[in-house]
Amino acid sequence: MTDFATVDFLTDQSLVPDPYPYYDYLREQSPTVWLEPHGFVAVTGYEEALEVYKNPEDFSNIVALGGPFPPLPFTPEGDDLNAQIDAHRTSFAMNEHMVTMDPPDHTKARSLLSRLLTPKRLKENEDFMWRLADRQLDEFISLGHSEFLAEYAKPFSLLVIADLLGVPEEDHKEFRTVLGADRPEAQVGSLQGQSVGTNPLEFLDEKFCNYLEERRRNPRGDVLTDLATAKYADGETPEVLDVARTATFLFAAGQETTAKLLSAAIKALVDRPDLQRALREDRSLIPTFVEESLRLESPVKSDSRLARRTSKVGDMEVKAGTVVMVLPGAANRDPRRFTDPHEFQVRRPNVREHIAFGRGVHSCPGAPLARVEGRVSLERMLDRMGEITLDEEFHGPEGDRRFNYEPTYILRGLADIHVQFTGRG
Ligand code: HEM
Repeated sequence: MTDFATVDFLTDQSLVPDPYPYYDYLREQSPTVWLEPHGFVAVTGYEEALEVYKNPEDFSNIVALGGPFPPLPFTPEGDDLNAQIDAHRTSFAMNEHMVTMDPPDHTKARSLLSRLLTPKRLKENEDFMWRLADRQLDEFISLGHSEFLAEYAKPFSLLVIADLLGVPEEDHKEFRTVLGADRPEAQVGSLQGQSVGTNPLEFLDEKFCNYLEERRRNPRGDVLTDLATAKYADGETPEVLDVARTATFLFAAGQETTAKLLSAAIKALVDRPDLQRALREDRSLIPTFVEESLRLESPVKSDSRLARRTSKVGDMEVKAGTVVMVLPGAANRDPRRFTDPHEFQVRRPNVREHIAFGRGVHSCPGAPLARVEGRVSLERMLDRMGEITLDEEFHGPEGDRRFNYEPTYILRGLADIHVQFTGRG
């Protein structure tokens, strides 16, 4: 039995399969609590999480991904760290990506992204998703069983982003080989010794720089050309590398997270045959089913901020230089906001209040995409698969189930899920 009073949340494997009792334990002490041995504030309360998310003035995103790892590259001095953060910004891991930026640079980077996520592009991307869902299902449907993450969720979420960015279809196979395979060593926040300093995006940076330079020389009227010629809101033309990084970061931000959502959704389907039946009978429940999956198994497990100024969260005074770690999966089970918070309720009236996509200036720009990915996948699975059940050879009999979750404090999700289904074709 894990001793919650002394456990190290960031490295202790015993919390990985089911972190939720620990979150409740923390929240019962206080929705904001100081955690040793790494020394940071954990936020498990819903309102308190919103306070942090909505206050970029006092909370910098510079440590968004790793939280207290690696340690700050400077010793905080005084109650206002803005100058120190700016002076050391380039020493922080992943500082070239928008998720670690603060306004006004963040606003600029984000404006470039909004040039890409137009209603027209999202519609074309959805059309691609319907075709892709069937293509992925074709790979294993006749077998009657599947390891759903490797055979569906990972390649699907990867190729959706490739299509969104206009990667030519002849290159999709290369993307799938290089990025779609299980590469635990490339995961930020792994508990197995890596830090976020490892940058898995170099292949993509090079690939996209090549695409974009080529399109700037020879415009072709395709999506990559639109991206290559996009300008900042003030009319300035960005450096190729800055556009490339906007594009490549989408793979880091949108692939694993969406694969985790899809696997959480299929787990809910096999855990609860009554829900599976309800969804088959009434497809209009699918969107809230996706939301409730996001609420109960929020794929982003921790999302951190650095207090730039001494301020307050809830009742707690937070000194400048403190790392504040929001735990969306905990906030989304705060009983002050969600009644019977541990229950999967497909008709939960306030389900869309969950903060699985964050809030405020950094809130997830891929949320509409992820939601459609969930909807399209469920529609096609229910159309093409008969009753879907868990494969007991891998997960054990009812009452004694075993699941492997990714051993990371940054993301929450299954490492694999084996399912069986009666065929429909
Ligand atoms: C279920 C799937 C997803 C979840 C749970 C998720 C969650 C999140 C969260 C919590 C943030 C906020 C980070 C912060 O505040 O520090 C975020 C940011 C971001 N997400 Fe997602 N995301 C998902 C899918 C996607 C997809 C499909 C894409 C793009 C194709 C995407 C692109 C991004 C980007 C670019 C950011 C950074 C935004 C910024 O810093 O302004 N995400 N995501």
